[in-house]
Amino acid sequence: MITRLLTSSDEDIAAAARIIREGGIVGMPTETVYGLAGNALDADSSRKIYAAKGRPSDNPLIVHIADIADISPLVKTVPDNARRLFDTFSPGPLTVILPKTDIIPDATSGGLDTVGIRIPADRTARRLIRAAGVPIAAPSANRSGSPSPTTAAHVMHDMDGRIPAVIDGGGCAVGVESTVVSCSEDGHITILRPGFVSLEDIASVTGEDGVSLAKGVTERISDGERVLSPGMKYRHYAPDADIALVVGGKEAFERFVSAQEADAYAAGFGDESLPRLIPYGLTSEEQAHELFDMLRRIDEIGAKRVYVRCPERSGVGLAVYNRLLRAAGFEVIYA
Ligand code: TXA
Ligand code: MG
Repeated sequence: MITRLLTSSDEDIAAAARIIREGGIVGMPTETVYGLAGNALDADSSRKIYAAKGRPSDNPLIVHIADIADISPLVKTVPDNARRLFDTFSPGPLTVILPKTDIIPDATSGGLDTVGIRIPADRTARRLIRAAGVPIAAPSANRSGSPSPTTAAHVMHDMDGRIPAVIDGGGCAVGVESTVVSCSEDGHITILRPGFVSLEDIASVTGEDGVSLAKGVTERISDGERVLSPGMKYRHYAPDADIALVVGGKEAFERFVSAQEADAYAAGFGDESLPRLIPYGLTSEEQAHELFDMLRRIDEIGAKRVYVRCPERSGVGLAVYNRLLRAAGFEVIYA
């Protein structure tokens, strides 16, 4: 299969929408990361998504809609707190898990009776969803286990020859995947995957007692333990290199890295003065934006061992920390 690189012109969006309506899948830019987009109501289309990603089919797909008004056929109820989160943070990088109706096939929900709903802010994504006229299932457009793609070139690298088209919408503004939350019947919000919409942001809506972090966000889930989100149990974002997360200030980090083998790389905030430094941004927002490109660069240069300076764990920093912990296979060193 030849993979066409499309622009965000009206004709190209129409061509991509046609592929989706006919049961095919396309690479779609969003403000978080690129997605692999198909008709969420078509089980065969979802099966194609799993096949292209090489992803286990029990890991559910997020369903994307353009407007909150389009949610009603997809879910049984929207609890008040979920409604308030959508009102405050959507369109934007937030996914809310709700009880699904029967029109969402098991192939899309990974066999679960819930579905994650997201209303992306990216203009190209919104135009594509509207042009397709169906809710769009889209996981990140990487091969399973690779870092999520934040440019059309990343998608091409992983998906060339596997899907008919990728829309090039430029670099993703946020750079890490959406915040995924579940909402219990009594309205309590649990963060299953941290993202740009932070714990603090959500607490400003629900109150501090109204939101908590799921265990898998900052801790390893042991084999056989029940997980709230199937994605938590899979190895993620893992480059070929052996990565370790190093906790410590700038000086302690420099001292630690300088004492390691000469061929080891360091990844830090860019205010370090180490040789073989791969910088990934000074603020948490910049780190989120650079993170997945940094992980892909590590493989491009063929690094064997990389020490990554641990980011702040508040605000968007928690999302960066969560992804790095997984890339490092939970190896954390205190310098
Ligand atoms: O920003 C994003 O969310 C991107 C863009 C393309 O929208 N999508 C994305 O999808 O990151 P994906 O499939 O790579 O990650 C979705 C995560 C997975 O870890 C999955 O297990 C979890 O969300 N998830 C989805 N639906 C769920 C559900 N019904 N219950 C529990 N977890 C769910
Ligand atoms: Mg993913």
